[in-house]
Amino acid sequence: MTLAPYTLSDLRPAVAAAIRAPSLHNSQPWRFQLRHGGIEVRVDPQRQLPACDPSGWAARMGCGAAVFNLRLALASAGTPARVRLRPYPEDPDVVARLVPDRPRPATPTERELYAAVTRRHSNRRPFWPTPVPPEARWRLVEAARAEDGWLELVIGAAPVQALAEVVRGAHRVLERDRDYQAELARWVRLDAAVDGVPATAGGPAAEPQDLLPQRAFGVRTRAPGRDFEPEPLVAVLGCAGDHPRDQVAAGQALQRVLLTAAAEGLAVSMLSQPIEVPAAREQLRLALGRAGVAQMVMRIGYGQPGWPTPRREVAEVIDAAGVPIGAPSAVALGA
Ligand SMILES: Cc1cc2nc3c(=O)[nH]c(=O)nc-3n(C[C@H](O)[C@H](O)[C@H](O)COP(=O)(O)O)c2cc1C
Repeated sequence: MTLAPYTLSDLRPAVAAAIRAPSLHNSQPWRFQLRHGGIEVRVDPQRQLPACDPSGWAARMGCGAAVFNLRLALASAGTPARVRLRPYPEDPDVVARLVPDRPRPATPTERELYAAVTRRHSNRRPFWPTPVPPEARWRLVEAARAEDGWLELVIGAAPVQALAEVVRGAHRVLERDRDYQAELARWVRLDAAVDGVPATAGGPAAEPQDLLPQRAFGVRTRAPGRDFEPEPLVAVLGCAGDHPRDQVAAGQALQRVLLTAAAEGLAVSMLSQPIEVPAAREQLRLALGRAGVAQMVMRIGYGQPGWPTPRREVAEVIDAAGVPIGAPSAVALGA
């Protein structure tokens, strides 16, 4: 059976979904291109964060999350994709190539997760004390597993305290890193912008009693007594290895967990400080005592609905076929 190649009319709506993916400081480190009938996703080196993400881990996680959204959009349109991660050893910036698979209707899960793409937002505000029920916890764990990852739910006061101490330690290390802080500050947006984190999307000002340190994206006042939930559901996402390919795969697993949470009406905030500080990541590994590598820490619960942060236009992140990266290719494609 000959499969029809992907075209621009497949690419555009799929990219519209892909760019809703999360990325470190909303840096949106991705580019998309139609090539030989497939869709290729590349890390955009111009959008990698030299101080906050020197190894490119976060850029690959964000691109992996975008790949997962692409897959959902294509499947929901009845044109599912087969995916190869890092298909060209000589061109490692290409993190994934998606080629058409046999057409079939989208599964109920694909439809449900696709519908959640525009409803998923990072929520850094305090959550309500309502516990996350067992069925929802199970779904989150299964979501990670479906993408060859794992999700460890940290249960009990002592383990949560131990993990929080690791997060706080990593947060302190990063707070002392001037280059890191200067770069972070450059991604905080006080006015309208197409990228970066709007100050309004930041959490409330930190206080000493907080269990988990939120990143400060602008300072928001905090009503007296408006504390964070005392017993948050904290989860660690991980996967088997930590090669660049594993990190792209982990980004897909992350996005599947985040969209499953959104579909369950759950709010999530990400805390990547302990992944970014090697010593903290090692402490995390020892504390979890499981095989594999931690790729993200999350706080999960019920809260007020969040709201979308900005993204660049679809046309701005698509490269026309044959146009080298960095060239103003989007003009040729239009909106
Ligand atoms: C690899 C990675 C690391 C992140 N680390 C953090 C973090 O430590 N703290 C935080 O508040 N948000 C973190 N985020 C979330 C981003 O800030 C967020 O995705 C981005 O601002 C876009 O907002 P949205 O998730 O609401 O679409 C991270 C996201 C990714 C993909």
